Amino acid sequence: MCVGCSQRRSQIAIADMKSAITDDAMDAIKKENPKAIFIECDVSVFVQVQTAIEKVVSTFGSLDIALNNAGIGGESNKVGDMTEQAWLKVIGVNLNGVFNCMKHELSQMAKQKKGVIVNMASILGKVGFATSAHYVAAKHGVIGLTETAALEYATEGIRINTICPGFIDTPLLAKGGITDHPEVKQHIIALHPMNRLGKSEEIANGFIFLASDDSSFISGTALTIDGGYLAQ
Ligand SMILES: NC(=O)c1ccc[n+]([C@@H]2O[C@H](COP(=O)([O-])OP(=O)(O)OC[C@H]3O[C@@H](n4cnc5c(N)ncnc54)[C@H](O)[C@@H]3O)[C@@H](O)[C@H]2O)c1
Repeated sequence: MCVGCSQRRSQIAIADMKSAITDDAMDAIKKENPKAIFIECDVSVFVQVQTAIEKVVSTFGSLDIALNNAGIGGESNKVGDMTEQAWLKVIGVNLNGVFNCMKHELSQMAKQKKGVIVNMASILGKVGFATSAHYVAAKHGVIGLTETAALEYATEGIRINTICPGFIDTPLLAKGGITDHPEVKQHIIALHPMNRLGKSEEIANGFIFLASDDSSFISGTALTIDGGYLAQ
C-alpha cells in the first residue's frame, strides 16, 4: 500500500491493488477521513504510479506526506534454487515499486519545496535471512535508495527515511506460512528478545513520528522497530 496525503488529516489517498481493500474498510477510513480516496495502483508498474500521484495532486493540490509501504513475501528458497520469476517479482514490487513511488513523489515535492517520505524497509534491510534473498536484497536496496535521495533533497525541504520493522503480526506473515503454523510462528517469535511479534500500531507510531515535525532534523535514517532483534 502506498499512501499519499496532504497535511490536513482529512486528505488521504490510499493506493493499492484493487483486491486489497473492501468497501467496509474504505467506509471505516472515510468515517475518520471523509475526503479519503482510493486509487487502484500496482506499484511495480511505473505508469500506474505516475497516474496515481497525478490523481493525488489534482485532487488535493499537493502531496505533503508519502508512505511507501507496499510489499510482498515470495517463495522461500536458497539462492541457487530460486526461480528467476520469484526474484523478479519481489524485486519488482519491493524495490522497483519504491523507486517508482519516490521518483514521482519527489518530482512533485521538489516543485513544492516541501515534503516527507517514509519507506517501509525491514530488519532484513540490515541483515541477511536464509531463503529470502530477493526480499533481503530489495529491502537493503530501499535503505540505500532512501539514504541517497535524503542527500539529494536535504536542502530542498524534503526529508526521507525508512522504517525497519521486525516480524509484525500482519497478513504478510500468514501468507508466508508463518502465523498459520504454530512451530514456525514460535521459532520466529523466539528470534525477538521481547519474545513476541510486533503490532501494526507499533509501526504506525514510528511512521507518525517520522512524518511529523517532531522529527524535523531526521533524514536518511533507518528507524528500527524490532523488539530488540538487531541488538543481538
Ligand atoms: N509483516 C512483517 O513482519 C513485516 C516486517 C518488515 C517489513 N514489512 C514490510 O511492511 C510492508 C507492509 O507489509 P504488511 O506486513 O502490512 O503486509 P500486508 O500483506 O498486510 O500488506 C501489504 C500491502 O501491500 C499491497 N501490495 C502488494 N503488492 C502490491 C503492488 N504491486 N502494488 C500495490 N500494492 C501492493 C497489498 O495489497 C497489501 O495491502 C511491506 O513493505 C513489508 O515488506 C513487513
